[in-house]
Amino acid sequence: MQFTLLTTVAALAFGTHAAVIGRQGSDNPRLAQFRVFSDYGCSNLNEGFFTVDTDQSNKCNNFAPYSGSTPNGYVSIVLQALQPAGEKCKLYLYSDTTCSATETEAALNGCDNASVTQDGASFPTWNSWQLKC
Ligand SMILES: *[C@@H]1O[C@H](CO)[C@@H](O)[C@H](O)[C@H]1NC(C)=O
Repeated sequence: MQFTLLTTVAALAFGTHAAVIGRQGSDNPRLAQFRVFSDYGCSNLNEGFFTVDTDQSNKCNNFAPYSGSTPNGYVSIVLQALQPAGEKCKLYLYSDTTCSATETEAALNGCDNASVTQDGASFPTWNSWQLKC
């Protein structure tokens, strides 16, 4: 427990991306992986990938601690993989930090630009995500 906490704090201090947040194991199977970009089109300004383990599913995850150090925030995202344990899960992306605004279902291997429009307003970044299983 103590080791886990220290590792996480150290990883955050070095600005490491989300690979550090998962603690995969046989009792906590990996479900999905997605990649984030700081530009439209899922090609330029690759900011790394997030893995999603079972203990991270079915809850809202705020991107702000990770996206704040990027040039433009997270502008496009591609869902790269759903593992066997996660094949019934769906990844949702949101323009606010609390998983409520502009809910968008990510398609496997599809590119989701964040420039969604709702009620006449445009939202240029993704700010939270949730894997629903
Ligand atoms: C995302 O934006 C890029 C650049 O504007 C565009 O080429 C691409 O078609 C867009 N992708 C989708 C799925 O809308």
